[in-house]
Amino acid sequence: MLVRDMGIHGTRPFLLFVLLLLLRACFSVNADDTFTKGQPPLSVIDNDSISSKNGIFELGFFERGTPKKFYLGIWVKSLVGQTQKNIVWVANRENHLSDPYNSKLEFSEDGNLVLLGASPKKPFWSTNLQNLPSNSTEAALLDDGNLVLRDRSNLSTIFWESFDYPTDTWLPGGKLGIDKTGKEPKQLISWKNSEDPSPGLFSCSLRIDPNGSIEYIFEWNRSQVYWSSGVWNGETFAFIPEMRLNYVFKLGFVSNEKEAYMSYNSSIMSICYLDSTGQFKAITWPPTSEPWVLWAQPKSLSDVYALCGPFGVYHDNTSQPCDCPKGFEPFSDTRTRQNDWSSGCLRRHPLQCENRNAKKDWFQKIPNVTSPINWKAYSAMSDARCKLACMNNCFCTAYTHNSSGCLIWEGALLNMQRPSDGGKVGSDIYLRLAADERQISTKGTKWKVWVIVAVLVAATGLILCLSVCFSIKRKLKHKGETAASSNDLMLFDFSTEIHAISDGTNSQDNDKKRGKKDVELPLFSYESVLAATDNFSAANKLGEGGFGPVYKGKLLKGKEIAVKMLSKRSGQGLEEFRNETTLIAKLQHRNLVKLLGCCIEGDEKILIYEYMHNKSLDFYLFDPAKKKMLDWGTRIHIIEGIAQGLLYLHQYSRLRIIHRDMKPSNILLDSEMKPKISDFGMARIVGDNEIQANTNRIVGTFGYMSPEYAMEGLYSIKSDVFSFGVLLLEIVSGKKNTGFYNHGLGSCGEMVKAWS
Ligand SMILES: *[C@@H]1O[C@H](CO)[C@@H](O)[C@H](O)[C@H]1NC(C)=O
Ligand SMILES: *[C@@H]1O[C@H](CO)[C@@H](O)[C@H](O)[C@H]1NC(C)=O
Ligand SMILES: *[C@@H]1O[C@H](CO)[C@@H](O)[C@H](O)[C@H]1NC(C)=O
Ligand SMILES: *[C@@H]1O[C@H](CO)[C@@H](O)[C@H](O)[C@H]1NC(C)=O
Ligand SMILES: *[C@@H]1O[C@H](CO)[C@@H](O)[C@H](O)[C@H]1NC(C)=O
Ligand SMILES: *[C@@H]1O[C@H](CO)[C@@H](O)[C@H](O)[C@H]1NC(C)=O
Ligand SMILES: *[C@@H]1O[C@H](CO)[C@@H](O)[C@H](O)[C@H]1NC(C)=O
Ligand SMILES: *[C@@H]1O[C@H](CO)[C@@H](O)[C@H](O)[C@H]1NC(C)=O
Ligand SMILES: *[C@@H]1O[C@H](CO)[C@@H](O)[C@H](O)[C@H]1NC(C)=O
Repeated sequence: MLVRDMGIHGTRPFLLFVLLLLLRACFSVNADDTFTKGQPPLSVIDNDSISSKNGIFELGFFERGTPKKFYLGIWVKSLVGQTQKNIVWVANRENHLSDPYNSKLEFSEDGNLVLLGASPKKPFWSTNLQNLPSNSTEAALLDDGNLVLRDRSNLSTIFWESFDYPTDTWLPGGKLGIDKTGKEPKQLISWKNSEDPSPGLFSCSLRIDPNGSIEYIFEWNRSQVYWSSGVWNGETFAFIPEMRLNYVFKLGFVSNEKEAYMSYNSSIMSICYLDSTGQFKAITWPPTSEPWVLWAQPKSLSDVYALCGPFGVYHDNTSQPCDCPKGFEPFSDTRTRQNDWSSGCLRRHPLQCENRNAKKDWFQKIPNVTSPINWKAYSAMSDARCKLACMNNCFCTAYTHNSSGCLIWEGALLNMQRPSDGGKVGSDIYLRLAADERQISTKGTKWKVWVIVAVLVAATGLILCLSVCFSIKRKLKHKGETAASSNDLMLFDFSTEIHAISDGTNSQDNDKKRGKKDVELPLFSYESVLAATDNFSAANKLGEGGFGPVYKGKLLKGKEIAVKMLSKRSGQGLEEFRNETTLIAKLQHRNLVKLLGCCIEGDEKILIYEYMHNKSLDFYLFDPAKKKMLDWGTRIHIIEGIAQGLLYLHQYSRLRIIHRDMKPSNILLDSEMKPKISDFGMARIVGDNEIQANTNRIVGTFGYMSPEYAMEGLYSIKSDVFSFGVLLLEIVSGKKNTGFYNHGLGSCGEMVKAWS
């Protein structure tokens, strides 16, 4: 009209043309909001979509959940990517696109809109109408978010609209009510959870009383009403006072012979939806800020019925409102993480009725919870009778008893809640559990007894288990199938007390294996050494021994150990290692350091000794401050101890052993300053009648080696005696053999004089 008027008055056709163009740009019908039969189908892979003319809504494909499931739906464009809800309608909520790469939205021959996968016979979704003018239907996404199927030749003829099939969202202009022609009610059904649009347990529908009053009721599983909007008074609902405050919403009730419904207009951008937690929420999104919730009803999640599902217990915790009682576990972890507790909790062990051989069930007290509603009441019954009544009924899952009577529940317990302050009152419910669940009972004052019994049983079990382990281990050893990994720290803890010494009888070709087998020495895992030494932490390092660092460690039971790592570059190869372990494991003397175990992990060779609190002799002897702690009595004891140890090595042990590296740093001192000879890395076994031996490899420490050994490689027990002599002089004088002293003869000489 406007254009024609202009045209009539306009004298310049060119101007008119420009104006026409401009008008077209401003008011033109963007063909994007419609989808007609001739057009290529909307396909999932191409991410095809159509938008409403005002650009607020979009129809297309979206994905939800893990693994991803594809759906056709309508969303609010500006809310995509927001945490708040954006999907307002889903076509195929019960029927996700199982082959998204072949799926597309198109028109069927008869003019219906169908969502087809590879198989043309089974559409995922369809408008499913009859008698359509097959060649003239078109789909359009209107500005209010309504998807309509209409007649292309007469746009006001609408065959189908998505507003008649709401999912969980009520848009302004949308209908929420009943159908009088026998079709489905226009009701809201929540999503299963935020990632799953399939129908959940909560619904919201219009109820019209015979007397004409209307209200919206909120139901759980289409049966149990948990909240109502209150009666509609023509302007507001009784229980939604927010509606009065927010005249942004304008509600209207429509009733005709086909349907009865309410719809609303809103002066601001807003949508209402039924959340998967059962709450009805109104959200708005001002153009410049994030969407926010105008109001939610029922106000508290505790008013939502059975939110936590069968056997789930609701408690007032916004981040994690549900949990399971003892004996139950969440039905599915992935779903409960999305706060989808609709399947509730699963019993871990079947009750006696389901399992003939099972022991008698028992009852676990759940303190202070609200009673589920579907009880059976028995009046005037004692506590014991009430319990018995439940026990003898295979369907009974719980009972409670108070002075006024006995209540028992059959089947799943729904809507248990731990009352928060104020409001509901709780009572103690006794939940039936299988005998297998019976552990520490919290019942009455008997719990201490139970704790003691449980501890005793556990300890006995542990000891039994360990002895079984050991006997098995020994048997395995006999068969020659030792498994290093079976020795963990715990085992090691025990084996230090009972480890036995045996002669190596089987000889194997493999050196490493032989090292393990020659002696029955606890061999334990690298992991347990790591654990004991706190990953070889610097704080635990005691020092550097002859062949590598030594660490302090602690076993599970608190026993302290010294861990000697044989460094790869030390020159002590597998042979020395085997040597040392073989030797020391066979030696038992109070003046010899005790080897507790060893560990071989790849190139790492580790020896575990008893821990010596007072480190080694050189630590005291050559320290000006500490040497004062070594009084003459102590020194005599140390000298005597070393002599005893050496004598044992040379004379009394089954094998004659030459230590070859006697020096103060190899004399360890225990907490009572008793000396213990250590470091057998260079020790040699010589035959009983072998008085001396020869070696090409001269090892030891200069200053302690006898001249004939140092020069010619000739060694015998006398080499050790020579070293002992040097050691003796050092102990007496407190001076280092290899140290440099500038006063002539020195106190050592004086001491020797004094002694003789
Ligand atoms: C599809 O398009 C929408 C916007 O229209 C976008 O948000 C979404 O990421 C796209 N999806 C894919 C798979 O490309
Ligand atoms: C629809 O169109 C097709 C071809 O464009 C034609 O063959 C068919 O007869 C038409 N059907 C109707 C009902 O007009
Ligand atoms: C268009 O459809 C409407 C409703 O279906 C009807 O009332 C009207 O007469 C139709 N107009 C034409 C031109 O067919
Ligand atoms: C109509 O039914 C509603 C709901 O049951 C009730 O609250 C109301 O009092 C009834 N009104 C009359 C007039 O009976
Ligand atoms: C919901 O009700 C149906 C029957 O009405 C029943 O089969 C189903 O088990 C119920 N769901 C739950 C979770 O109780
Ligand atoms: C909402 O607005 C539309 C168009 O302005 C009007 O036709 C309808 O009656 C209004 N609905 C209500 C409930 O006010
Ligand atoms: C709520 O649940 C979380 C996670 O389970 C827990 O860390 C928190 O302590 C709970 N808060 C209260 C008040 O119970
Ligand atoms: C006993 O329990 C029932 C059901 O929970 C409750 O209605 C009643 O008030 C209780 N009676 C007493 C004395 O606590
Ligand atoms: C149950 O819990 C509520 C809320 O914590 C508390 O107020 C009430 O005293 C408790 N009742 C009993 C019997 O412990």
